[in-house]
Amino acid sequence: MTDYTGDYIGARTEGEWRMPPGLRRPLFYYSRRPWVSFGNPIPLFEHLHETFGPIAHYRFLGNLIVFVNDPAFVQEILVNQVGSFRKERTLQRMKILLGEGLITSDDPIHIRQRRIAAPAFHRQRIGNYASEIVESAQSTRDRWSDGVEFDASAAMMDLSLRIVARTLFDTEVTPEVLSVADEVNTIMGLYNFLVAFPKLESVLHWPIPGVVKFRKSRAKLDAIVAKMIASRRALSRENLESRNDLLSMLVLSKDEAGDGDTAGMTDEQLRDETLTIFLAGYETVANALAWTWYLLSQNPDATQKMEDEVDAVLGDRAATLDDYPQLRYTEMVFAEAMRLYPPAWAMGRLSTEAVTLGDYHFPPRTHFFFSQYVLQRSPEWWDEPLAFRPERHELENKTTRPRFAYFPFGGGRRQCIGESFAWMEGVLSLATIAQRWRLHFIERFPVVPQAKITLRPKFPMMMRPELRVR
Ligand code: HEM
Repeated sequence: MTDYTGDYIGARTEGEWRMPPGLRRPLFYYSRRPWVSFGNPIPLFEHLHETFGPIAHYRFLGNLIVFVNDPAFVQEILVNQVGSFRKERTLQRMKILLGEGLITSDDPIHIRQRRIAAPAFHRQRIGNYASEIVESAQSTRDRWSDGVEFDASAAMMDLSLRIVARTLFDTEVTPEVLSVADEVNTIMGLYNFLVAFPKLESVLHWPIPGVVKFRKSRAKLDAIVAKMIASRRALSRENLESRNDLLSMLVLSKDEAGDGDTAGMTDEQLRDETLTIFLAGYETVANALAWTWYLLSQNPDATQKMEDEVDAVLGDRAATLDDYPQLRYTEMVFAEAMRLYPPAWAMGRLSTEAVTLGDYHFPPRTHFFFSQYVLQRSPEWWDEPLAFRPERHELENKTTRPRFAYFPFGGGRRQCIGESFAWMEGVLSLATIAQRWRLHFIERFPVVPQAKITLRPKFPMMMRPELRVR
């Protein structure tokens, strides 16, 4: 039973609003508690879940924050009452890098951009990328030698970058692509520093070293991406159509379903979407793959089953798109890794009007957070939640759980547009690597998940590859 004296306060009515239980004082008051770390909210979220269950509130910097840990409430926010929410402010501030791209824009811009971009992400279109993914994974696996340790986390970043370069820009990892990755990393490294400013937009002109660095990186990125867009614009329609990369498809796309306005994207919109897709699709998949190899190394039975499947489906030949549906166990391995280590580890929304969730009634401008990391490890929905069991993702097991007990790709109208792409990339990369290697984790560094923009391993993840003999 939670003791609602001291640190905690029970559910109560405040004027016309009804609040769930939560922390009695603003978060800063609890700074010395082990569950408060301002660089990492996961321990706080876990503490709120353990103490209060499905819903709790606290206050931070004058804001009312509600932490939701119930799939039904997540469904209310992302689907049933979606019109009462917008994206949360910290994410809004990513606009300084991503402008009005799909992740950061609000309606009506978002609806239009999503409609224009959707065809480029259709299943059939995405299928064209299977061979690019397999070739990239082959070239990654060719670089390892039996028994020679390497950092799997860096290797998966490198693999994911190759795949993004080939599918988004139709190029190898050229110095230009590398500098896109470097500049994006620099900016993301500065992100926590930058969002700390309450009036960020005005600060962006100041000569503060971090801000100057940001401006330089952004200018460099803009120049590279502008060049790539200009090179597509210079092509005839036929030439563009014969190309297969996502950027060419976005240049070609028009808003045909719109209200008579059949214009395509402006250069600025293309720039925003290109950086958005680059950012959204690169580190997420890389981290999911790194965590998968770690979990496999700790679970030899699952590894054996996956290898048996890969041997039966592929033997020695290169995987193709047709093999993808046969690699069911490999897909479940990837799904289970994203349950335990979801790359997108939390999401947030801001209410734009009064909203009701269960017995509670909240004012406009309430911040709502929910965490894939916490919900997907919650004993209410998962037996022995910390055990790695790919079988949980068999169809008959999936249907017994609420939709939002598992949501690595979010849900509702903002659900990840790259989801089909990410599944195919994950499964074909795992299978191609497992054809040749079994990876053994070497405990040189502790395994600590770091909740940055994505959930990444904090330290190098050293692995010893063992050549598989069949
Ligand atoms: C394992 C890999 C991935 C994970 C876990 C992931 C997760 C997510 C999540 C949770 C969202 C919703 C965010 C929100 O509603 O607040 C999202 C949105 C998005 N993702 Fe992914 N993603 C992955 C891979 C990709 C890839 C490969 C691409 C592109 C090629 C991509 C592009 C996007 C875009 C453009 C959005 C914004 C969609 C919108 O709001 O309309 N993602 N992703």
